[in-house]
Amino acid sequence: MAKKEDQFKSVISHAKEYGYIFQSSEIYDGLSAVYDYAQNGVELKNNIRNYWWKAMVQLHDNIVGIDAAILMHPTTWKASGHVDAFNDPLIDNKDSKKRYRADVLVEDYAAKIEGKIEKEVKKAEKRFGENFDKEQFLATNGRVKQHQEKIDTILKRLGRSLEKEDLVDVKALIEELGIACPESGSKNWTEVKQFNLMFGTKLGASADSAMDLYLRPETAQGIFVNFLNVQKTSRLKIPFGIAQTGKAFRNEIVARQFIFRMREFEQMEMQFFVRPNTQKEWYEKWKETRLKWHLSLGMGEDNYRFHDHEKLAHYADAAADIEFKFPFGFKELEGIHSRTDFDLSQHEQFSGKKLQYFDPELKESYVPYVVETSIGLDRMFLAVFSNSLQTEILENGSSRTVLKLPAVLAPTKAAILPLVKKDGLPELAKQIEAELKWDFKIAYDEKDAVGRRYRRQDAAGTPFCITVDHQSLEDQTVTLRHRDSMEQERVAIGTLASIIKEAVDVRSWLKKME
Ligand code: GAP
Repeated sequence: MAKKEDQFKSVISHAKEYGYIFQSSEIYDGLSAVYDYAQNGVELKNNIRNYWWKAMVQLHDNIVGIDAAILMHPTTWKASGHVDAFNDPLIDNKDSKKRYRADVLVEDYAAKIEGKIEKEVKKAEKRFGENFDKEQFLATNGRVKQHQEKIDTILKRLGRSLEKEDLVDVKALIEELGIACPESGSKNWTEVKQFNLMFGTKLGASADSAMDLYLRPETAQGIFVNFLNVQKTSRLKIPFGIAQTGKAFRNEIVARQFIFRMREFEQMEMQFFVRPNTQKEWYEKWKETRLKWHLSLGMGEDNYRFHDHEKLAHYADAAADIEFKFPFGFKELEGIHSRTDFDLSQHEQFSGKKLQYFDPELKESYVPYVVETSIGLDRMFLAVFSNSLQTEILENGSSRTVLKLPAVLAPTKAAILPLVKKDGLPELAKQIEAELKWDFKIAYDEKDAVGRRYRRQDAAGTPFCITVDHQSLEDQTVTLRHRDSMEQERVAIGTLASIIKEAVDVRSWLKKME
């Protein structure tokens, strides 16, 4: 089995074993592409949401937050274009009866070629050692250039065909590339068809009066329909933003890859309203700002890259993804979209209500243009979790599994461990816990040898362990163990709160964006 697959499998099993993520309704054999966040998962998820909210809302005096309902008037989705255009191209394999997204089959094919490039780079790195110049190698190596050209040609053609809705050509591309069904190995494909991703539901008790509704497929529309309400009540002047986090639902065809692509998921979106013709400038600015937010978490610059869209969504005049290197390769983590005045104009037209802004400087009214930043909270969770999970070989030859979560996001900030369960150590440990828990999520663990307890906390991602021993009773000091370096230091109990605060405080992490 490929190494990447092994790595991904260990991410999924670790998430379950350490109380991060469970399959939904597991006792009934689960529900495909739906997951539950467990005791540690919910803390990590809350911390990621909070990290985003602070950066986007609290630190911008021109961005406010809302929390709109999941259910919206059905005309919303007619106006937004989702009823007519929120489709994925699907294709069935006639032998395995499995359904795939046609574009994903082609993209996976391109990703395999990219894997070949990565192999060439690794080989060359070994050969040239310290003198290796990756950029020069990528630009000049013949085999790499051939691979890259092939990828570009395939993705360009896919983009063009999707843009023109030329589904016949998408199928032709799959056939020309000789793509086989991953399940059956057969190349016996149906035609490519469009499939609407929205979940329908009904409002009302009786069948006659019931109204057909959709579960929202994006949170953005809740912001657009409230645009004028928020602007008038907040008295914000353009440019300004409205942010929200919340659930979205999509009946995804390809629902593999754990929490990467779910049918029920959470988005963190911000719509930034700007003057017409300034959208390109703001689009660039938000691309830069969002990348800085990611980099502030210290998960490695090389793990991110921008991907500019060839095929633009029905509402956009420019769009880019921030891609992250997941265990299965570089994939979209966040989208930055220049949505023009499409949404507000459509809602004006369908509702018959004006959604215009009077610009006091220009002394004119207009429908603002919008630049959107949209990130999947679950996808961000997967990026953080998979990047943090590491197996280290220690000096004595043993190995340890450690979840090196950025301390600001870790579910539990410190674990308090009395060395033994007697002699008054548990009592002192409990006193320390009682004090620290006002500011931090703290764990208390007195079971097993202290070494095993350290390993448990390493694997759960806890940045600090505080060990209370007999000396603690005499001089009010404890051993503070750091998760990543495993270094231990003796510190006064009275200094614990400030040491932990410095390491986990959102402020010091977000300051890195400046
Ligand atoms: N309002 C724009 C919008 O929804 P999108 O590119 O379709 O744009 C934005 O989605 C982000 O939402 C993606 O970058 C991804 O992180 C997340 N996302 C989309 N579909 C998802 C799914 N099925 N499961 C998990 N996250 C998803």
